[in-house]
This record gives sequence, C-alpha cells and structure tokens, in this order.
Amino acid sequence: MSADDLATVFNSGAAEFTGLTPQVWGPAGQSLVFQLRLQPGDAVLDVCSGAGASALPAAAAVGPTGLVHAVDLADDLLEEGRLVASDRALHNVDFVRADATTWEPPSTVPEAGYDALSSSYGVFFLPHMDDSVNRLVNLVRPGGKIGLTTWRRGAHEDYARAYFEVLARHVPGIAAEDHRPGPDDPVRRLDSPDALGTWLTGFGAVDVEINELPNWLPATPELAWRLVLGSAFRGPLIGVDAGTVEAIRLEFLTLLTERDVETLDLGTLVATAVVDRRP
Ligand SMILES: C[S@@+](CC[C@H](N)C(=O)[O-])C[C@H]1O[C@@H](n2cnc3c(N)ncnc32)[C@H](O)[C@@H]1O
Repeated sequence: MSADDLATVFNSGAAEFTGLTPQVWGPAGQSLVFQLRLQPGDAVLDVCSGAGASALPAAAAVGPTGLVHAVDLADDLLEEGRLVASDRALHNVDFVRADATTWEPPSTVPEAGYDALSSSYGVFFLPHMDDSVNRLVNLVRPGGKIGLTTWRRGAHEDYARAYFEVLARHVPGIAAEDHRPGPDDPVRRLDSPDALGTWLTGFGAVDVEINELPNWLPATPELAWRLVLGSAFRGPLIGVDAGTVEAIRLEFLTLLTERDVETLDLGTLVATAVVDRRP
C-alpha cells in the first residue's frame, strides 16, 4: 500500500481505531515503553505512532526534560494523540504528520541522535522495511535503544481467514488465501522470537530482549468488526459501497459463529535492543 493509501485507511478508520486502544494498541504500547526502560530526559522517536499508544507513555516516562517525536501519516490519529496529550498535560510530545522513511530529526534532538526509537505495530508498513528501519536505527545514538512490537505467529488467524473468505465473495481481486501472505511478507518475517531477534541483530543491535504479550479478546460481534474497521484490515473495503460492506459484515460475523470462533488472538511480541554502532 502507498503512503497515501495507508493514510486513507487509517484516517477513515480513526473512530474504530481509537475504540480499540484500551484493549489492543494501549497494552502493547505501554509494554513496549516499560521494556525500553526509558530515562528522564531521553529523546525518543516513535514512528508509525498512530494516536500515541507508545508515544504517550514514552512522554510520561521521559518526563518534562525529555522529548518525544510521534510521527505518522494519518492526520486524524495524530489529532487524537494531541488531544490526549493535552488532557494529560504532556507538553513534551509532538505529533507530526510525516513519512517515517524520510524523517529528519529537528535541531532539538542531540547531535549524537535519539536515545530511543520505538514503533508499535509499525515497521511492517514501511516500504523496503529493512532499509527503512536501518535508516531509522542510524538516527539513534550509539548505546541507545530500539524497540518494537509485532504480531506473534498465529495472531489474527481465525478471524482473518473468515474475513478474507467473505471478502473474496464480494471484492474483485481478493482471494480467500490472501489472509495468509507468503513468507516474504514483512509481518510474517518478524512473527517469531527467533526470526525477530536475528533480524534485529542484523542492524548491529545487541542485548536483544523479546517477550510475548498474550492478548486473547472475546470475539464479540462488536469487537470483531471494530478490529476490521480500525486496522489495516479495513484496506480492502475502501471504495466498496455501503450495502456490500454491510453484507460482508453480516456474512463475516455469521462465519465466526458457525466456526465457533470465540476468541481473537492478538498475541504480540515486544522486542527491545541496544544499538551497538559506533559513529
Ligand atoms: C497499526 S497502526 C499502529 C499505530 C500505533 N503505533 C499504535 O500502536 O496504536 C500503524 C500506523 O502506521 C502508520 N504508518 C504506516 N506507514 C507509515 C509511514 N511510512 N510513516 C509514518 N507512519 C506510517 C499508519 O498511518 C498507522 O497509524
């Protein structure tokens, strides 16, 4: 998906996305920040920040002497992040509309670089993921931290299978098998602790720590459909007329019931590491 298409998907799903924060984005963002062990005064770059699931706890962790740059393409999510930051009187976080792949640190960032780079459920959206992440890691000072969350193998599987089966009936160009992309897909490349750890060491990272954050949510019709509308699963519905979307919703929910899908597996890997590069 192009940057413009991603912005369209996440902007149009902003309400549902925000509705998922307490159960989905929030726990992962908080866990990521905890594992990063940020220090007061740290400068943090949070890419693919959305509405701030990791950027907001990072801002609280680095305190008023620190700073957080929260970078995303989706204006509506960024605006939500600004509102929450304002509610919490967090004045040290800037939500900026920018493409993470071309982000340049402003002069407020120490010359040596950021103290930490974070991205929760973000890096797999970046085009040429390895090159993009390599460039971002170069914005972190030697000895600084990097941290990210990804979906653990098996996450989303049951309901994604049902969703794509239904999509294939209604949306030209979508096949039922699309629910499980090939091994080169960025999400799949990072979906096990071993693969993720090896990938991170490829950027000169050391002291890699990976923990699993289990997250089994009840597959209520409301939550299952919100998960579609408030995430990248919304993509195939863009441009589809409202009547067809409603038919997809009903068939999808029926299929989940027929298959006794009672839980949504949102298992997540939380990975952190230290950047061991010398300037
Ligand atoms: C699944 S959301 C995660 C948002 C947030 N980190 C969270 O956990 O709530 C992925 C986000 O990546 C953003 N994104 C995708 N590609 C991007 C890019 N090249 N630059 C900046 N943001 C990007 C999308 O706009 C979307 O908000």
